[in-house]
Amino acid sequence: MNVLIIGGGGREHALAWALLRSPRKPGVFVAPGNAGTGPVATNLDLASTRAEDVLPLVEEHGIELVIIGPEQPLVDGLADRLREEDILVFGPGRDAARIEGSKAFSKAFMDRHDIPTAKYRTFRRSDEDELRAYAASKGAPLVLKASGLAAGKGAIVCMSRREIEEALDELLDGERFGAASDEIVVEQFMEGEEASLFVVSDGTSWVILPTAQDHKRIGDDDTGPNTGGMGAYAPAPIMTPDMLTLATEQIVVPTLRGLAHEGMPYNGVLYVGLMITDDGPRVVEYNCRFGDPEAQAILPLISSDPLELFLAAAEERLGEIDVKVSDMASACVVIASEGYPGSYRKGLPIKGLQMASQLPNTLVFHAGTVQDGPVVRTAGGRVLAVSAQARGLQGALARAYTGISLINFEGACHRTDIGKKGLLHSMSGQKG
Ligand code: GLY
Repeated sequence: MNVLIIGGGGREHALAWALLRSPRKPGVFVAPGNAGTGPVATNLDLASTRAEDVLPLVEEHGIELVIIGPEQPLVDGLADRLREEDILVFGPGRDAARIEGSKAFSKAFMDRHDIPTAKYRTFRRSDEDELRAYAASKGAPLVLKASGLAAGKGAIVCMSRREIEEALDELLDGERFGAASDEIVVEQFMEGEEASLFVVSDGTSWVILPTAQDHKRIGDDDTGPNTGGMGAYAPAPIMTPDMLTLATEQIVVPTLRGLAHEGMPYNGVLYVGLMITDDGPRVVEYNCRFGDPEAQAILPLISSDPLELFLAAAEERLGEIDVKVSDMASACVVIASEGYPGSYRKGLPIKGLQMASQLPNTLVFHAGTVQDGPVVRTAGGRVLAVSAQARGLQGALARAYTGISLINFEGACHRTDIGKKGLLHSMSGQKG
């Protein structure tokens, strides 16, 4: 069977790698892919992620299943358009994808279904005076969010009155966020540690994958600006069995039931960003796709046929299959270009890829890379990630960092503390 993955980041390289492990030996196509997917799968040029550009590729290459990696095409309704043509798709339709595409929608949805999350109010951009007065009355700490998609940069945590005013200026002037801040959500600040929960659903049945923890800030000890994610590990020890049970009962079940009840059964992977507070798990946000780089840590832990997982979800028969997960630990460390998440140079030659990928239980997942003859060059902010698996988190981290030490390009940056919180939790056996 031929499978097309839409996207070109590290998550999509990990998806391609997972599919290529399937005993069913699928033909794997990635559009547009990157220098990591090129040698193992077939990269396809993609003019845009609109159905008019995707459908000809599906036809030309006899694609039977499409896996949509990033959020934008899901929010734009690509899955619906493909399903209208009777193509199997892994990924939610436009209605359900609003769970990520509109924070105003997702907060109101959580209210309707009693799902624990931070208290909030939503304002239209035109309600500037009311919004400013409300935010001032709440004071710091406070979280301000652009309701629409903002490439992971739409949530601003304000720790002082001045930061609130600066964030409001940015959200209201529309220059940075455009239409994404037509609606603005003001949220209570939640104290705790974050964790990521991934649930594959076919609309009726669902499977929980290993939990993970991302590292969003660019610098060690969670300093500096937010990024797409600088590293992840799985499973996350903070998600103890009790915490996972609570999150399942209070969040996963009512979310999937609520979506189905409202006429938009969820098909794809639901990513629940959680805050583990003293009062239990709370939803920080929903995403309608795999996390990046969480996927690079989680997918290597699926020990049953990954193709069967995605296909069974797309064919709405998830309840009939047995999904197996390894009991190993997984760690993934991202290497970024100097300057990321601000501006950075591209086109720098990358050395050491071959050596790193030959290490035992170690995978090099490309993200912003491009093949230039025999040379692989940088082509993005997050350039690649080294993901490694071992019996315990410490071993997985040691392996991932050995891989990182072998790869180099001018200005390469990475965090040196990925997994530190996870190690503390596993050593102390404590929850918070
Ligand atoms: N790593 C965070 C995200 O994928 O949104």
